[in-house]
Amino acid sequence: MRLVLVGPPGAGKGTQAQYIASNLSIPKISTGDIFRANVSGGTELGTLAKTYMDRGDLVPDEVTIAMVRDRLREDDAQDGFLLDGFPRNVSQAEVLRDMLKDWELGLDLVLELVVDDEEVVRRLAGRRTCSQCGRIWHVEFDDKKDDVCDACGGKLFQRDDDKEETVRHRLEVYQEQTAPLVSFYAKDDLLVGVDATGPVEEVTQRAMEAIRPYM
Ligand code: AP5
Ligand code: ZN
Repeated sequence: MRLVLVGPPGAGKGTQAQYIASNLSIPKISTGDIFRANVSGGTELGTLAKTYMDRGDLVPDEVTIAMVRDRLREDDAQDGFLLDGFPRNVSQAEVLRDMLKDWELGLDLVLELVVDDEEVVRRLAGRRTCSQCGRIWHVEFDDKKDDVCDACGGKLFQRDDDKEETVRHRLEVYQEQTAPLVSFYAKDDLLVGVDATGPVEEVTQRAMEAIRPYM
């Protein structure tokens, strides 16, 4: 199955992607995660991406698209994938469509996680990520009193772009550049919206119910 997750920053794309991808036995491909791995690895790509990410702006298309093209060619993505954070604007979506077409493939479904701005700010302010296994936690909702990952014992950190001011800017970027994807994919009859409020497990359940008819 070839799936895309769309939704504003903090909608829970990364959180849901880890469960959905594992339920469907497909790789989760997150452009944000790949950029962050490059930043912490000190690569050239990481240095370039960091200047955009710290401001909450999108990394230039040519860089992002080349990176995704390489990733989609890897063996584990040949029988399906879940894209989290890509495409992020209409031109990325057009390139993805044409790229898959060249390979005689297409998307099966685009899931939109729907949540309002205030909830996003609340979620991102309390987000912590494991530096070792990448698992996503929330200070309040997961009742985290220390900065240790309960899954692997790794140290948790707060993302640089989760400052309230940067979050507000990321939301503007989302409205301007990413929200148009909703009508782009609705036109192709690929879009299904999922209410992303409420407990994580309930959102996963709703997402899996939405996916099932396309499996
Ligand atoms: P990226 O990493 O993709 O960030 P984002 O889209 O802003 O999304 P987030 O990771 O912030 O949120 P999420 O929806 O995954 O939420 P999460 O599950 O963590 O991109 C970062 C940057 O990289 C961009 O700004 C850009 O610069 C660059 N970039 C990436 N892709 C790009 C592209 N294609 N083109 C150009 N540039 C690109 O959840 C958030 C918090 O809420 C967590 O703490 C979680 O525990 C909690 N939570 C989740 N679900 C629930 C729930 N149901 N109830 C309560 N809490 C919840
Ligand atoms: Zn961990």
